[in-house]
Amino acid sequence: MKREILRMLRNADSYVSGQSLCETFSVSRTAVWKVINQLKEEGYVIDSVQNKGYRITEYPDVITGSEIESLLLNDDGTLDGIINKVVYFDDTDSTNNQAKLAADSVTNPAPHGTLFIAECQTGGRGRRGKSWISPPGSGIWMTLLLRPDMTPESASMLTLVQAVALVEAIRTEVSEAECCLKWPNDIVLNKKKISGTLTEMSAEMDSIHYVVIGTGINVNTTEFDESIKDVASSIYVETGKNVKRSNIIAAFSRSFEKYYNMFTKTNDLSLIIEDYNRMLINKGNTVKALYSDKEIVGTSMGINNAGELLVKTDDGEVMTIRSGEVSVRGLYGYV
Ligand code: BTN
Repeated sequence: MKREILRMLRNADSYVSGQSLCETFSVSRTAVWKVINQLKEEGYVIDSVQNKGYRITEYPDVITGSEIESLLLNDDGTLDGIINKVVYFDDTDSTNNQAKLAADSVTNPAPHGTLFIAECQTGGRGRRGKSWISPPGSGIWMTLLLRPDMTPESASMLTLVQAVALVEAIRTEVSEAECCLKWPNDIVLNKKKISGTLTEMSAEMDSIHYVVIGTGINVNTTEFDESIKDVASSIYVETGKNVKRSNIIAAFSRSFEKYYNMFTKTNDLSLIIEDYNRMLINKGNTVKALYSDKEIVGTSMGINNAGELLVKTDDGEVMTIRSGEVSVRGLYGYV
């Protein structure tokens, strides 16, 4: 009921009377009062005036289940977008680990569209075995669990669907943030990385059990570890805008659903490729693909329908680069 009360207060132009809250949710005054107190403890500033009721005057930058779900709640009790349920942790090792544990549960397997989110991760994991620094208070550390009916080959492209959706969501919420994609799924703003994604899958040869898409977004972060400070930044540092993290998550839920529906029409990127390539930062630029034992230098021509990067070398040959153990960079730096 907390998310419903929060939604009603959020959407009201003025005070909402205790009586109408009691009647709408068929609960006692004490029950309403308890929820109001919980919200106050979480940082919502709520003005309560006798004979008028309650009004929220300040919203904290929290990413709890009730905050996110209150932003997505429809009249019929469903949630707008891909997220169907939020599982929130104050801190955990890694939301990808938690998502996989919950997906693998025999007694109560987490369903498609569950979002696992943590204020802080103690064992955040990045791509290629790197760690992902995930302090509390300023970033979004979240993992979306999907159970799509498609082949593992198609499911591996979902990481690019996520990337397009997140760029759209950030641009919608922060018009100053002209962020772009760096293949396959880093998000860059002013040539600095503000987000990365680690996608993992549980599959058989020709069918998948589930996919977990884990994303880290530096939203209001101002301090960066020595090891990443040359390439990493945040939305706040690059735009000067302090953004409520929950608004980005809500926008992401809607954008992801839109692109996911486009993707599942063909189970490849053919309906999304145009948007992806438009958002791709180094299309037309010289890039180098670094494998463990070789390097390919050429012009980035964008992705194909399978999400592979096409790179045209000086001798005119078009190489197809698959993500995985390859890193693609600009000739002289990160992009
Ligand atoms: C990268 O290396 O760019 C990918 C970083 C992915 C980090 C996110 S944070 C939420 C989720 N949980 C993890 O342990 N990793 C992902």
